[in-house]
Amino acid sequence: MSLLATLTSGLRRERELSWELRADPDTGLTSRVEPVLRPGPVTTPHRHMLRRIVAMVREDLDAAMLRDPAAYSRLEMFLSSAGLHAIWGYRLAHILWGNIATRGLSRLWSQFVRALTGVEIHPGATIGRRFFIDHGMGVVIGETTVIGDDVMIYHGVTLGGRSLSRTKRHPTLGNRVTIGAGAKVLGPITLGDDVQVGANSVVVKDVPTGFVAIGIPAVVRPAIDGVSPEEMLEFEPAIWI
Ligand SMILES: CC(C)(COP(=O)(O)OP(=O)(O)OC[C@H]1O[C@@H](n2cnc3c(N)ncnc32)[C@H](O)[C@@H]1OP(=O)(O)O)[C@@H](O)C(=O)NCCC(=O)NCCS
Repeated sequence: MSLLATLTSGLRRERELSWELRADPDTGLTSRVEPVLRPGPVTTPHRHMLRRIVAMVREDLDAAMLRDPAAYSRLEMFLSSAGLHAIWGYRLAHILWGNIATRGLSRLWSQFVRALTGVEIHPGATIGRRFFIDHGMGVVIGETTVIGDDVMIYHGVTLGGRSLSRTKRHPTLGNRVTIGAGAKVLGPITLGDDVQVGANSVVVKDVPTGFVAIGIPAVVRPAIDGVSPEEMLEFEPAIWI
């Protein structure tokens, strides 16, 4: 299969997944829900691919603008954010990883992106939408890591393994998880939705939904009652930066 065909089928698969996710729970109809990508009446696979890429880039830029107080324009972020460049590089590598014939190319591309950005994301990792890495440098994300939507991590974060066996050995992160600078999350553990990990913490055990994990090894405690993770930034910005 040619490289172009691999890219096209990979992107189509991802687009179908996002349609499924956006299905109306009451009616089951996806057409009632505004999709990120609106398919035209008759379009070629290549136009679909281009529109999908543009929609994804826009979405990632919006997420970055929302989460980085030092970001002043989308153009600036598009050109200068190493974290975004690493994520876009990963998304291409992940598609190539999906075809056994292009896995070698995927690894080479991934290493090239790592050299450019200082961020190492294994192409086999599974990463959701609107993922953002602030500052970028020194991040390592292992092969069997699974990351939900709207997750944010800072520089120096490792999502790593504690085992040499070829099984699920890296963490699973829920949605809206925030991981502070330099933190290590190790092993096939699960961090629930809205979990926050303090800077330089070492997490080796599961963290329940909505909890905060801080220290080495990390101890967990509930977030302040009734305060959302976004509002928590107002209270404790120092745990992340
Ligand atoms: C330190 C390490 C070798 C311990 O492995 P282990 O002997 O299997 O440890 P256990 O799971 O039995 O844990 C023993 C205790 O140490 C704690 N612990 C485990 N790893 C820890 C770490 N890195 N830092 C601090 N405490 C740690 C555990 O919480 C546990 O505490 P408890 O007894 O109070 O519950 C391992 O956890 C580790 O950190 N390996 C390095 C992994 C790494 O760097 N991966 C990078 C991949 S990119």
